[in-house]
Amino acid sequence: MEGASQQLASVSESAQLDAELLLGHCLGKPRSYLYAWSDKQVDSNTLQAFKALIKKRQSDYPVAYLLGKQGFWSLDLKVTEDVLIPRPETELLVETALEKIHSIKAPKILDLGTGSGAIALALAVERPDAKILASDYSVKALGIAEENARLNSIHNVSFIQSNWFETITLQPFDLIVSNPPYIRANDPHLKQEIRHEPQQALASGKTGLDDIRIILHQAPIYMKKNTWILIEHGYDQGELVPELMLQAGFLQARCIKDYNANNRLSMGKKG
Ligand SMILES: C[S@@+](CC[C@H](N)C(=O)[O-])C[C@H]1O[C@@H](n2cnc3c(N)ncnc32)[C@H](O)[C@@H]1O
Repeated sequence: MEGASQQLASVSESAQLDAELLLGHCLGKPRSYLYAWSDKQVDSNTLQAFKALIKKRQSDYPVAYLLGKQGFWSLDLKVTEDVLIPRPETELLVETALEKIHSIKAPKILDLGTGSGAIALALAVERPDAKILASDYSVKALGIAEENARLNSIHNVSFIQSNWFETITLQPFDLIVSNPPYIRANDPHLKQEIRHEPQQALASGKTGLDDIRIILHQAPIYMKKNTWILIEHGYDQGELVPELMLQAGFLQARCIKDYNANNRLSMGKKG
């Protein structure tokens, strides 16, 4: 184990944890098993499988893809290379969304660009009375999101393939949420640590704002009066996105910071 974690030290800030998760995965056991049975020898098949995963992880390949799953909110979500790995920062969007619909009975919610289904499914477990529509352009991503709904026994989310609002029928929503692609097309990160994740989930034109502009421009006609739109974005877009919201006619547009004090989430109210 020590050797494996040393091998990962140059690519991962959590080398020991990564190695433990990967060995647990090969054994089909939780991490706690490794501590309880630390003297036990692993058989040669398990060792081979473990070595192969460590080698792949050394090429920066994400642990979540190797495990095939990622925790988000209270859920265990299946992830493959077809979906973005849900990030802990996105839980801020879920928390804020729950506040915005706190006093609305049976709210209708739209999650644009649902990926693994993370946001829609987290809202669905917290608000079983909500009716949630989750969309994505990627048919493969939608397949994973639907599977995650099934695996978590969630029944109040429906799924639709759509290029943003293209196939969404007018049914004014009480809340629209989105974590859209927002990275500049020439951002070097796209070729480095996030290169294994789907590019269509990450990059959005020269400024990183192409998709956010489209969403903000089209959203108002899909929203009831006095309801909110919440958009996750890059840490350096905290002034631009509220500005775009104001231009699109939203009121009270503002950005809030995530737990790392980064500008992460902007919101605007339809008047
Ligand atoms: C940053 S990922 C977010 C995934 C998920 N909501 C999350 O927070 O983990 C953006 C998602 O938007 C989807 N997407 C990209 N372009 C789109 C478009 N034109 N219409 C609908 N969805 C799109 C991608 O397929 C991807 O699943």
